[in-house]
Amino acid sequence: MAETKILSGKTVSQDVYNSLKSRIDKLKSSGCIPGLAAVLVGDNPASHVYIKSKTNQFAKLDLYSESFKMLDDTSERDVLSLIDDLNNDERFHGILVQMPLPEQLNETAIIEAVNPLKDVDGFHPENLGRLTAGHPRFIPCTPKGIMRILEYYKIDPSGKHVVVLGRSNIVGRPVSILTSLKKSFSNATTTICHSGTKDIPYYSQQADILIAAIGVSEFVKAYHIKDGVVIIDVGISRIEDDSEKGYKLVGDVDFDSVKDKASAITPVPGGVGPMTIAMLVENTVEAAKRSIS
Ligand code: GUN
Repeated sequence: MAETKILSGKTVSQDVYNSLKSRIDKLKSSGCIPGLAAVLVGDNPASHVYIKSKTNQFAKLDLYSESFKMLDDTSERDVLSLIDDLNNDERFHGILVQMPLPEQLNETAIIEAVNPLKDVDGFHPENLGRLTAGHPRFIPCTPKGIMRILEYYKIDPSGKHVVVLGRSNIVGRPVSILTSLKKSFSNATTTICHSGTKDIPYYSQQADILIAAIGVSEFVKAYHIKDGVVIIDVGISRIEDDSEKGYKLVGDVDFDSVKDKASAITPVPGGVGPMTIAMLVENTVEAAKRSIS
């Protein structure tokens, strides 16, 4: 079989930044610097890393961003009050609240408090509803990034069987909607598997495109897939090893197990991760553009 193609999110994200450059310059010359407010509650170490990567990317592109870090025991009232301030602050065209939130906070209430026109994560029910109805405003960043990788590498889901592992509101559910929309570079037959699915291999073995967003490290093995499948690996977790760093990053797919069977696969790291950030920048630029037009 031909060698497995590596679908590099780093390459595709660079392409996104290149094409955003002229849009950003245009906004800046009309006095508008796209701005992001990143809200982080608590001390989840992975969330701190994500927020830093996001704000670093904004700085690299000379865009405005600020992170708002709140203690783990912050009350819902205080989070809602911050969101209200950010909704009314013209420097911020986009607001994101990093997930997961500490237990005492009601995720739904907090997501619904963000002005839908600043909801660059696309988590607000108004934006999810629009996506479901096929006329999206903001598309959640990771699903949007997955579609962009497929498009860049000319892997057209139309007429194919896409199997999504995981039904989270952040990835699994929206990507299942996106892949099955009646439009170009979608139009797939999509199946969602989740913790209630009785026989995951039965479905995953039928996938032409398999999207693994199940949150279990190295879950997908050779026996889950058929020859020639395209695999998008959304997972990222640390597992300890005896390297100098003491750990390595792995996805939801056991790369070594599947690599001789899949026709193409996103690596971890350097696959979906960089695309999530690129789509956050793109959504914030779109939000800024809408705010002045
Ligand atoms: N947690 C995991 N992925 C995401 C994301 O894309 N946005 C936010 N806000 N939280 C997340």
